Amino acid sequence: MESPDGGFWSLENRRVRVKRKPDLMGLYAKFVLPRIIDLAMSNRKTRHLRAAWIPLACGEVLEVGIGSGLNLAFYSSEVRRVFGVDPSVELQRMARKRLGSIDVEFLSQSAEEPLPLADGSIDTVVLTWTLCSIADPQRALKEMKRVLKACGKLIFVEHGRAPDPGVAVWQDRLTPLWKRIGGGCHLNRRIDEMIKQAGFQIPELTASYIPGPRPMTYTYQGIARTIG
Ligand SMILES: C[S@@+](CC[C@H](N)C(=O)[O-])C[C@H]1O[C@@H](n2cnc3c(N)ncnc32)[C@H](O)[C@@H]1O
Repeated sequence: MESPDGGFWSLENRRVRVKRKPDLMGLYAKFVLPRIIDLAMSNRKTRHLRAAWIPLACGEVLEVGIGSGLNLAFYSSEVRRVFGVDPSVELQRMARKRLGSIDVEFLSQSAEEPLPLADGSIDTVVLTWTLCSIADPQRALKEMKRVLKACGKLIFVEHGRAPDPGVAVWQDRLTPLWKRIGGGCHLNRRIDEMIKQAGFQIPELTASYIPGPRPMTYTYQGIARTIG
């Protein structure tokens, strides 16, 4: 007899056994997507942007969505320690191979959950191509703000909503499918507005297309600071 989830009930030996269908999306997210992310995030243009921004980090660093650790090679000796938050154990495994001389403490959790860090204890928050994938970005940004020192900075390099209506309309159309295959990635988020909404100001911001398909490459780069 077929069970409600498509498996089979079997009453042999008075035990009920359910044979589940393989969860293809789950297998894709666990084994395939981390490799795609690592590959997609390792191109010349992303390396160039990492080289421009990551050396500005200093002191105690919180990197949200550390992924496969592609920023690690760009931290300077001004960094004492990096707390690397990411819910993906597979990506964390890749990041561990890129540690070099940096002291990294991995936090296997979502950035929306309370971080095990004291208020005002972090000098630099680093966010690269991550805000697009966080399900509740406001909650995560408020947690970043909580742990950031009053004099600290948030360095961000994020893709998001393009100013051209012809591109933005495609970003809206593609996002529902893109989210499913891209680990929750939204193409159409207004990154600067989201950061400001969480109580930051953005004294340094540039936004422009980088090479590649326009719906995926409108990039916001800058530094945000807490207000008050
Ligand atoms: C496109 S990858 C970018 C990885 C890395 N920041 C980089 O620059 O190569 C997006 C990252 O965000 C992470 N991520 C997704 N949801 C998250 C969440 N709720 N909290 C923290 N990280 C998250 C993913 O696991 C993935 O590592």
